[in-house]
Amino acid sequence: MAVREIVTVGAPVLRERAREVTTTQLGSAPVQELIDDLIDTMRAASGAGLAANQVGELLRIAVIEVRGTNARYPYKPPIPLTVIVNPAIEPLDDELFEINEGCLSVPGVRGVVPRNVRVRVRYRDRDGAEHSVVRRGLTTGTFQHEVDHLDGVLFTDRVGDPSALTSWEHFERHDRAAFEARARALVARVGS
Ligand code: NI
Repeated sequence: MAVREIVTVGAPVLRERAREVTTTQLGSAPVQELIDDLIDTMRAASGAGLAANQVGELLRIAVIEVRGTNARYPYKPPIPLTVIVNPAIEPLDDELFEINEGCLSVPGVRGVVPRNVRVRVRYRDRDGAEHSVVRRGLTTGTFQHEVDHLDGVLFTDRVGDPSALTSWEHFERHDRAAFEARARALVARVGS
């Protein structure tokens, strides 16, 4: 297990579509090691998620976890450690919510991205078992953000208003209080 270097915006690997993982590949030592490394790297960087593209591997694997209070996203509801392999996301309705997002591969920048509020996520776990789960509220944004990475898409591609991009410092100073209030109201209404 190891913490790997996270590649940043401009690296071609962030713009490529990651490949489906076969059952044989998933059971192999290198891919299981990659999954361990994704978890270690996400935790070391206080991320809420990390996709394989972000450590330079074009496989459809991402990890997601929000523990207690996340240093980067203190308002996010907890998400147990989830390894998603070959994920597919299906919106359950048309409702959108504007989420203030950041990304370990886009250091220092935050922006507002419209995300579906309710989605079904189908994926395999690291043992190959199939899952189909419904996710709501802010949690769906995390899943959509990571699956976007596997499709070569960054959150900055989806911001509605590029003039509203901020540094983390200015998010704290000007936007965080209002965003947290909206986010807590959403989670109270729809769950996570
Ligand atoms: Ni990201």
